Amino acid sequence: MRVVVPQTEDDFRTYFELRYEILRRPWGQPFSSVKDDLEDTAMHAMILDEKGIVAGVCRMQFNNKDEAQLRFMAIRADLQGKGHGKLLLTYFEELASRHNKKRIVLQAREAAVGFYRRNGYMLKEQTQLLWGVIQHYRMEKVLLRDE
Ligand SMILES: CC(C)(COP(=O)(O)OP(=O)(O)OC[C@H]1O[C@@H](n2cnc3c(N)ncnc32)[C@H](O)[C@@H]1OP(=O)(O)O)[C@@H](O)C(=O)NCCC(=O)NCCS
Repeated sequence: MRVVVPQTEDDFRTYFELRYEILRRPWGQPFSSVKDDLEDTAMHAMILDEKGIVAGVCRMQFNNKDEAQLRFMAIRADLQGKGHGKLLLTYFEELASRHNKKRIVLQAREAAVGFYRRNGYMLKEQTQLLWGVIQHYRMEKVLLRDE
């Protein structure tokens, strides 16, 4: 498996389809809910398996000079728990470090808090209850410490 940046229309189609399949469809949300207004400026990455099939997707945006934010992390249901999520996290953490970001923040779904904790993210506060059912928590990982 390898991390690639989606480039073509076809890449982005499969990229958003997986995001929809994992993060929107199970809650009956329409396909129009799959994107927000930062897609054009954000950085996207996906994992391809040996056959070139998309196994996972994630996105990072820069909130300000010091802070990056991860959104829409989704691993194909039958491939969860095999290290794909960790690989995407590492990819974006290295990218954020290369851009001199000091921290990465994210809104973790309750079921994913353990995954982020395992990967060095600290739970900061309870935040929104998405669609009235999915509790989220703000989490943060410090990449570089101030001198
Ligand atoms: C949450 C998710 C991104 C994790 O990705 P993954 O590929 O399944 O996780 P990995 O196999 O890379 O796990 C990496 C490590 O975290 C641990 N881990 C994974 N999920 C965990 C969980 N829910 N609780 C505790 N630890 C977890 C793994 O055991 C592994 O530990 P190790 O390094 O000791 O082996 C993925 O399961 C997923 O897409 N879930 C559904 C959608 C979702 O919730 N996305 C996040 C939205 S905020």
